[in-house]
Amino acid sequence: MSYDEVREVDEAVAAALEGERERQNDTLAMIASENHVSEAVLEAQGSELTNKYAEGYPGERYYGGCEFADEVETLAIERAKALWGAEHVNVQPHSGSSANLGVYLAVLEPGDKILSLDLTHGGHLSHGHQANFAGQLFDVEHYEVDAETGYLDYEGIREQAEEFEPDIVVSGFSAYPREVEWERIQAAADAVDAYHMADIAHITGLVAADVHSSPVGVADFVTGSTHKTIRAGRGGIIMCREEYADAVDSAVFPGAQGGPLMHNIAGKAVGFEEALQPEFEEYAEQVVENAEVLAETLQGHGFSLVSGGTDTHLVLADLRESHPDTTGGDAEEALEEVGIVLNANTVPGETRSAFNPSGIRAGTPCLTTRGFGPEEIEIVGDCIAKVVDNVGDEEVYAEVSETVDELCAEYPVYG
Ligand SMILES: Cc1ncc(COP(=O)(O)O)c(C=O)c1O
Repeated sequence: MSYDEVREVDEAVAAALEGERERQNDTLAMIASENHVSEAVLEAQGSELTNKYAEGYPGERYYGGCEFADEVETLAIERAKALWGAEHVNVQPHSGSSANLGVYLAVLEPGDKILSLDLTHGGHLSHGHQANFAGQLFDVEHYEVDAETGYLDYEGIREQAEEFEPDIVVSGFSAYPREVEWERIQAAADAVDAYHMADIAHITGLVAADVHSSPVGVADFVTGSTHKTIRAGRGGIIMCREEYADAVDSAVFPGAQGGPLMHNIAGKAVGFEEALQPEFEEYAEQVVENAEVLAETLQGHGFSLVSGGTDTHLVLADLRESHPDTTGGDAEEALEEVGIVLNANTVPGETRSAFNPSGIRAGTPCLTTRGFGPEEIEIVGDCIAKVVDNVGDEEVYAEVSETVDELCAEYPVYG
């Protein structure tokens, strides 16, 4: 993309857009929730559909001229059904958080009870944090991962559900590196006749490619973001059984949103088509293998990982034992200096603050998209260890920056 048209009217924004493209090409994106979409998805998202009002759903719009909007949205829905096997799909949520809001509005009343994973243990704001609408509207209690193992404590969740009697149990996480046993969470919800919403925002792509078990057909509602492992551009999605279709659809529109972002829905349709190709399965398998290699490499350098490893696209390192004087924030900042972009993250049993926590979270979706395999990931793991072991050492930074530059040049993202 040249941004020539933008430059004609706005040099400042054109420069920032070019800067961002260069930044993505010239650094290693390891934020576990990010990905690099294809040029095809970018083009669809930048299409004239941004101009179109299409309130309502395909075939039932409140505006005229919706024939192409209908076509695109129907394709996105059909492809999503093929990818995840859901009975009903709504592709209109503007984001993963909006998808969760849609489900809450569909089945809960203000003051109803949510049981979800604590944010510092890997949960998400929209699962009921006080600073979020979910925490403000609902009565929320959190479960935690097992302090010793870092794994979900399914028995504990069930016991807590029996005591708290939630209206909905929320599963699906932002920083949980292990495979989730959806049936066991469903059993906890069933025990108290609660709904179960599985938020697969991070692992949409892994579930679609069958490299992670699926909650579709298990949980009442499955929500997600479409810009993470599924690589279909920014947005959200809700899947459910047919029996909840009307409640979900009217909760999203007119309940929570007005006109759908049709250009983003076009991006979803294109990204889903890409994900239906056999190469996507290879991609998702590689994402997980790369995360395993990253985990082993970091452990080889003495890093302690929450749960002792990973089954997914991410690793969560707890720096407290291996690097007691280095916070997650220190590590994030030092790594950004050498062109490795990841985020500081809270860890189970956090003893510092959410603003400067004790861990770092690193994911492999972006690096795998740009073509990295185990060999390159091992080099990246070595680089991370070298920097975190030597925070503040400019000589080390210069040396690692050179390696990062070489990797970026060898595997460009956008031309
Ligand atoms: C588990 C989970 N749910 C929801 C979201 C929110 O997604 P979005 O940023 O699309 O609102 C995230 C974001 O990372 C997440 O990790």
